[in-house]
Amino acid sequence: MVTQHTTKASESIDFDKIKKLTAEEAKAVDQLIIDELSSDVILINQMSRYIIGSGGKRLRPMLLLLASKALGKCTDHHLVLAAVIEFIHTATLLHDDVVDESDLRRGKDSANAVWGNAASVLVGDYLYSSAFEMMVRTDNMRVMQILSTTTTAIAEGEVLQLLNCNNPDTTEEKYLEVIARKTAILFSASTRLAAVISGADKATEEALALYGQQLGVAFQLIDDALDYKSSTEELGKNLGDDLAEGKPTLPLIYAMAQGSESESQLIVDAIKQGSRDAFAAVYDVVISTHALEYTEKCADEAAQKAIEALSILPASDFKEALITLAQFSVQRDH
Ligand code: IPE
Ligand code: IPE
Ligand code: MG
Ligand code: MG
Repeated sequence: MVTQHTTKASESIDFDKIKKLTAEEAKAVDQLIIDELSSDVILINQMSRYIIGSGGKRLRPMLLLLASKALGKCTDHHLVLAAVIEFIHTATLLHDDVVDESDLRRGKDSANAVWGNAASVLVGDYLYSSAFEMMVRTDNMRVMQILSTTTTAIAEGEVLQLLNCNNPDTTEEKYLEVIARKTAILFSASTRLAAVISGADKATEEALALYGQQLGVAFQLIDDALDYKSSTEELGKNLGDDLAEGKPTLPLIYAMAQGSESESQLIVDAIKQGSRDAFAAVYDVVISTHALEYTEKCADEAAQKAIEALSILPASDFKEALITLAQFSVQRDH
């Protein structure tokens, strides 16, 4: 019998149950992260421990570990690469909060709010460099190639996004290009690396990379919807940060296209201005044009593609967990 997986699971997703499947490995990854974060430059220790210690979902390492276990093994190299991915992710957050002028991250004052922009940029660079130092230890040219291509694409995505800021003519296509690079490629690298380090065949590697890419797209689409509809407590980030930066994310692009002339104009002005002032009015248009439902539908389609890509894997609890995480990326409220 073919099991039908939809992204509309009726029960709420049990994230803790999934975490248990890789609990031991995740603990080892956390220990590796702590061990690597020691520098004789005190500010580096303080800041990197502050941001890493603030929690975070550790979703990308979890994906790498689950994909590895779905393929049958999880070696020390897999653990190192899971830590590397979280370092890179954290470095991008340090830089991103400077660029986005965000002052709340993981429910705490962001590093830039506490120590300032200069320190955040420099410690972000330190985390990037540490990640590359660790990665070299795997002594695997393919791994280095994948991760260097990935970090280049993330930087391109963030710069492309900067170019789109305050530009209400940004198309859905351009927006999708940004999120593919700034977010999805790191998810894709996580699951691809699991395949590469496990010595999986090319078809499996590509299928896992596609799973990660589509899950990443779904994840960012929902992140952009949550910027309008979640709560600061739940999200651990301030709502309206995207509008404050004049970021033309999909909820706004769709609302502009569907709204009346005056509603569209309101959003055009808000994007150009890049301020939180018009949040309530923009929010009303986003709601009345069903722009959040549209964004969620796009995320749901991406998650569905991610799940389909997993058909290459043999049945296991780990494969089921990967399917559930694709559903989680769409249904999450934080
Ligand atoms: C935040 O990623 C950046 C985006 C790609 C939206 P996460 O939501 O995975 O951040 P943490 O690590 O759980 O804080
Ligand atoms: C996240 O972009 C992508 C990267 C950090 C590279 P966002 O700016 O949407 O993420 P949040 O909302 O600040 O977490
Ligand atoms: Mg941001
Ligand atoms: Mg965001």
